[in-house]
Order: sequence, then C-alpha cells, then structure tokens
Amino acid sequence: MKICVVGTGYVGLVTAVTLAAKRHEVVCVDIDKEKVDRINRAETPIFEEQLPELLKSTVNAKTLSATTDLKTAIQNAEICIVCVGTPSLPNGDIDLTQVEGAAKQIGEALKEKKGFLSIVFRSTVTPGTTENIFSAVLQAFSGKKPREHFSICYSPEFLREGRAIKDALAPDKLVIGREDTIAANNWKMVSSVGCPIIETDFKTAELIKYANNAFLATKISFANELGNLAKSIGINSYAVADAIGFDPRIGKQYLRAGLGFGGSCFPKDIKALVAFAKKNNYEPKILSAVLKTNDSQVERFVHLAEKKAGSLSGKKIAVLGTAFKEGTDDIRESQAIKVIGLLLSKGAKVCAYDPKAIESTKKELGNKIEYAGSIQDCLKDAELCLICTEWPEFRIIDFSGMKNKVVIDGKHILEKKNGIDYEGLCW
Ligand code: UGA
Repeated sequence: MKICVVGTGYVGLVTAVTLAAKRHEVVCVDIDKEKVDRINRAETPIFEEQLPELLKSTVNAKTLSATTDLKTAIQNAEICIVCVGTPSLPNGDIDLTQVEGAAKQIGEALKEKKGFLSIVFRSTVTPGTTENIFSAVLQAFSGKKPREHFSICYSPEFLREGRAIKDALAPDKLVIGREDTIAANNWKMVSSVGCPIIETDFKTAELIKYANNAFLATKISFANELGNLAKSIGINSYAVADAIGFDPRIGKQYLRAGLGFGGSCFPKDIKALVAFAKKNNYEPKILSAVLKTNDSQVERFVHLAEKKAGSLSGKKIAVLGTAFKEGTDDIRESQAIKVIGLLLSKGAKVCAYDPKAIESTKKELGNKIEYAGSIQDCLKDAELCLICTEWPEFRIIDFSGMKNKVVIDGKHILEKKNGIDYEGLCW
C-alpha cells in the first residue's frame, strides 16, 4: 500500500522503515529539510540498533523516501500515519501544538485529495484528544466527512529505544482505538503482526498507552523504594527483587533498582497523566509518588557521593554514562544529566564519558564539563567515579588510573570490584 508517515522521530522513522521493509511504498514527511535529506541519503539521524541496515536497504529498494512536501505525500497516500512529538508543557501538561498542527495540515491537504485516506494517529495523547482534536480539526480543515472521505484510528506505540525495530516487528500487542473499521482494518493489514489485537474506542486506546508506561514506571519506583529501604538495613535488594520476580503476578522485569527512570517517555507521560487526572478532579497519589521517588534517587546518589568523598568542590568526578539508558544516544530526561547538574552546583569538576551520547551531551551541557574519548581518559586522576548508565562495557573496568579508587554504581552494572572502594546506590 502507499503510506505516508508524518514525523520522523524515532517512532516515525522506525514505523516507516519496518513498513517499507514489508514492501509497502513509504514516504516520510518532516518539516526538517536536513533530516529529510539525510534519510534520502540513507543516513540515520538517530542511533538505533538495526536502523542503519534497514534504512539503507529500503532506500536502495526505493520503498522508502522522504520529503518536506506533506500535501503531495497526502495526495499520493492511501494511509497516513502520524508520529509527531507530544512534549511536556512547563506545568507537566501535554503540549499538543505539533499534533494539532499536523492534523490541520493533513486536513488542508485532504480538501483537494482524490480518493479515500485512512489516518492512523500514533503520538501519545491524553484521553479525548483523538476525538476532540484530531477528528474535529480534520473535519473542520478538510470540509469532508469521516467514513465518506477519510477514516481515523488511534494506535499507540510501545517501542523501546535501543530495540525499537525488534519491538515494531514483533510487538506484544496491537492496540487500536476506532469509531469505524476502515482505517483500523487497513492498519491491521499493513502492520501484519501476529500478536493479540485489542480493538476499542479512542479514549480507551489513549489511556492504555499511559497505563502501560505508568505501570512500568511504578514498578521501577517501587524497586527503588525497596532498594533504599533494603540498603538502610544492610540487605541486597536485588536478591529480594529476584525472588519476588518468580511470582508470575509480579514478573522480573522493570525491578532493577538504582538511579531511576529517564527518557523522552516515562517522565513526560507520568507528568501528563498526573496533570490530566487533576484536570478531571482526581488527585493521583501513587503516580505523584512515583515521580517523587524517581527525583529523589538523583539526590540520594549525589548525597552518597558526598558521604564517600567529602566535599565535592574542586574534585574531578568521572561520570560514566550520560544516555538515559544503554543502547541509545538519547539524553532526554536522563538521570545522569540531572546528577551532573547537581555535581556542578556543588563545585565539582565533571568529566563524562558515554559510548554513544557524547555529541548529544555536548549540545546540552557545552563547556560546563569535560568530555573524555574513552573510559580510561575519563577515570584518569578522578577522585570519584559515578556509574550512571547501564552500558555493558562498564561491567569490567580497570580503575587503576584514578587518584582515589572510589566508585558509586547507580545502575548495578559493575561485576569486577577488586581493589576499589565500591558502593551501590540501593545495595
Ligand atoms: C518506554 C517503554 O518501555 C516503551 O514501551 C514505550 O513505547 C516508550 O517508553 C514510549 O512511550 O515511547 P523507553 O523510553 O525506550 O521505552 O525506555 P525503557 O527501556 O522502558 O526504560 C526507561 C527507563 O527506565 C530507563 O532510564 C531505564 O534505565 C530505566 N529502568 C528500566 C530502570 O531504572 N529499572 C528497570 O528495571 C528498567
């Protein structure tokens, strides 16, 4: 089928390449000309496993191309998939500017379109948005009626950065909110996934996405509470988490205690859900606590650093890992960046190393810190080492170049601890 994907962030691009790999004719649309040119040259704008290979093969096979011309892309498409960003407003509420703007432009383009268009919205949005904004804006700007000229469905994504291609090709579920079956059926057909399909109304599908992320974030904050408590009485919380994980009602995943969660999704989505609940006159006690526990892990980490190394002022501190997790160059809402901010406020001299995220860190922090090209350079003459991201290469490190071999592990990653003064955040 002929598909256009609006928005080429990691969700849009991953959706586009996996559909193009299934031999659909896919056109990516983005307002960023530089990004569009890069995609057409088969250069991936983000670091994501398997993406370079798939982008190359689909661009070469001419099943994938990119453009800034949304109008023409819509004229030629049978399905339009919307994957633009929904960031946070300063009060935590969701910022719908980009999705609203995309809906307006698609509506305008629909006015002159010959033929039917199925529209799949994938951006994470609070319940009611598909009906009150997407559907209403499309009708107002196109002057056309749903079901006669176009059909909408809402299908949230559950892709994890670092393994987004695998998740897109083999999802655990396909959730589809719909009012009619046309767009939903087309979306099921092009996705061609062999997983359970949940078809429901728009609002339920919208809440499923938030509930999924909120539950996982809650598990992490629970693990962190348990970790903080266990450490205070000299127990390794990982042994406790491992044991309870055997209970299938609990499960082993997302129980790794440490520095807490970051990224472009969990913090933003939980804040948006809290703000949404409050707007609907409900005070969400658990969700607010999930955020509070997550924030306090950063403070506990730096506090532990002070406890071990004394005043941090003027001391060289090696920070290993700035990405919000392993397998990505993304530093959005990274706990590591918050740790660095707190270290700087205490007068520390920070030197950071990350295998993939140094460029994005430089863009964020500029010359406030030093950047190392290797783990060894980062550790050289440091008085303290803080491990902030669970990169596998941090498992076995030679700390001999440090001035004082004091290491605090925020991610429970270090395996070899010979000859160092080691302490974990929650164990
Ligand atoms: C998350 C969800 O896992 C995806 O299903 C969802 O589609 C995506 O958000 C989104 O809404 O788009 P992602 O942000 O890539 O995916 O990150 P995760 O792999 O879930 O990790 C989130 C954070 O939790 C990371 O900072 C990670 O280090 C931390 N984490 C994870 C822990 O601290 N402990 C754990 O046990 C697991």
